[in-house]
Amino acid sequence: MRYPTMREAMESGETLVFGHRGAMASAPMNTLASFQLAYKQGAAGIELDVHLSKDGHLIVLHDFTIDATTDGQGAAADFTLAELKRLDAGSWFSPAFVGEQIPTLDEVFELVGRKLLINIEIKSRSTESEAINHAVADSIRSHQMTDRAIVSSFDSRLLQRFIEICPEVMIGYLHSPSGAADLMDGLAHEARHPWHELIDDAYMSWAKGSGYFVNAWTVNDTQRACALKRLGVNGLITDSPAHIIDALESC
Ligand code: G3P
Ligand code: MG
Repeated sequence: MRYPTMREAMESGETLVFGHRGAMASAPMNTLASFQLAYKQGAAGIELDVHLSKDGHLIVLHDFTIDATTDGQGAAADFTLAELKRLDAGSWFSPAFVGEQIPTLDEVFELVGRKLLINIEIKSRSTESEAINHAVADSIRSHQMTDRAIVSSFDSRLLQRFIEICPEVMIGYLHSPSGAADLMDGLAHEARHPWHELIDDAYMSWAKGSGYFVNAWTVNDTQRACALKRLGVNGLITDSPAHIIDALESC
């Protein structure tokens, strides 16, 4: 079976459902168990967050520290991959997930890269972005994921640099109410990823008129999901893929 490319999926007219950090309402965020569950729930794709380990490996983790989602403490960037792999990234969520590890981006691609679209959010400060940008580009290319991935970030300077080193991968510019949304204006990129409450008719007219796909985060309310579908949003990033997929089927 041939799975659609990211661009084909976005152009399909379907409201795509992306599992936020996997299926984080039901499994420990950013773990292989969470990504596998998002797939089982029927998500078209997943969103995940990446950082670099001390020894330069791409790890999938939300926070800059390991405190909240593992049995360790400290900044992720202060640990080697081997040290991070010894941590338990599942038991904080539930005893059912004891032994779950922090995955690498390569491991996620190997597990679900051929069956899920992958939205890779780079968590880095732009002053430190060169190494992580290159690592993400190398990983995407080596797993032949260039047409099934989208790279996103709140950091416009990081994205500008990513576009230079990896122009073949789609880019989604994340923005929240507190961030300036115009920092990427005039720079070629494919998608906007606004906080969902920023989206209304005027936003969609502007985005579509500017040629952007729109993927909204984080949409857990079924009525809001239906409203965003009616507005023509391309993708919904949600903690509960099954719940939102059910809702979209009946609106
Ligand atoms: O990509 C959407 C969303 O993940 C952005 O915020 O903090 O959940 O990474 P955060
Ligand atoms: Mg994220």
